Amino acid sequence: MRAVTQERYGVPSEVLRLRDIPAPEVGAGEVLVRVAASPVSGTDWHLVLGLPYAARFVVGLRKPSNPVFGLEFAGTVTAVGAGVHDVQVGDEVFGWHGGTFAEYISVPAEQLTHKPRNLSAAHAAAVPIASFTALQAVRDLGKVTAGQEVLISGASGCVGTYAVQIAKALGARVTGICGADKADLVRSLGAERVVDHREQRLPDIGERFDVLVDIYGNPSLRECGAVLRPGGTLVFVGGTGGRLFMGTDRWLRGLIAAPFLRFDVRALVHEDRRDDLVTMREFIESGAVTPVVGQLYELDRVAEAIEDVRAGKVRGQAVVTI
Ligand SMILES: NC(=O)c1ccc[n+]([C@@H]2O[C@H](COP(=O)([O-])OP(=O)(O)OC[C@H]3O[C@@H](n4cnc5c(N)ncnc54)[C@H](OP(=O)(O)O)[C@@H]3O)[C@@H](O)[C@H]2O)c1
Repeated sequence: MRAVTQERYGVPSEVLRLRDIPAPEVGAGEVLVRVAASPVSGTDWHLVLGLPYAARFVVGLRKPSNPVFGLEFAGTVTAVGAGVHDVQVGDEVFGWHGGTFAEYISVPAEQLTHKPRNLSAAHAAAVPIASFTALQAVRDLGKVTAGQEVLISGASGCVGTYAVQIAKALGARVTGICGADKADLVRSLGAERVVDHREQRLPDIGERFDVLVDIYGNPSLRECGAVLRPGGTLVFVGGTGGRLFMGTDRWLRGLIAAPFLRFDVRALVHEDRRDDLVTMREFIESGAVTPVVGQLYELDRVAEAIEDVRAGKVRGQAVVTI
């Protein structure tokens, strides 16, 4: 089968290769899926480069521990292993597992479920990890409730487009921070107000919020404090800068300072959970959340997709169709 492989860390165009490799076999408790689509996210840039270095303890010290790239998928079940009863051959499913930029993948049954009825495979593939991250940041750490004012930094990205819609679905009033060219997109997802990160830093916004979901932008702790109400909550989700920790040292400083601040500080390390996949399917089937897929790519253009996402050229998510 065709698959996009990576034997070493480096720039996507230099290290990602489309190769023929043996198709996987289905084991007990597993489901063999013919992959229809797999998304590219902002995190893929970091994964290809193996940055921050601290992340290599998880993804492979000297080279990627899984040579096939890609983390999420939608597709069709072609075989089920012993003990699998939830899905059958022919079912359309979505889920997460390492090695999804490939024609087939064998996935533990607890890492997939039936895809939302109202989505194409390309849109369903874009759901799992970005939406888990947004859901856990907004619902679990931010504890967003109806009537709250929520500020989302990085609102136009893979995670941010879900965070805006989930906060809105929970009844909050949302302000999103993104580039001016994507302001219309973020408004269409439910944000009442949009702030251009090239024009304004957080203290320039001149308002206070109950929750700040900091997905992108690296604001300082002082800047975060300037937009949070007393008793408000800062949720760290992402960061940039520095090859060792890539902005997550900011999280550490925030967590250490937390007892002396007038707002709560929480940092998200998202978990991939089947329950959250089912919750997202419910949000999507009810119409409250719609994945934003900006551009489709073929399997031989994965490196280009990663570089386009990195350059901010894609509105929402880039998805590779297989
Ligand atoms: N904690 C976790 O468990 C977890 C899980 C997944 C991802 N993450 C992290 O979350 C972050 C975002 O991931 P993603 O996939 O959503 O990235 P992405 O798709 O590249 O989106 C980033 C967005 O941030 C916006 N942006 C750029 N500069 C900004 C600034 N100075 N201020 C505010 N917004 C700015 C960009 O908007 P414009 O293009 O409109 O300029 C872009 O849409 C990454 O750091 C990733 O590693 C964390």
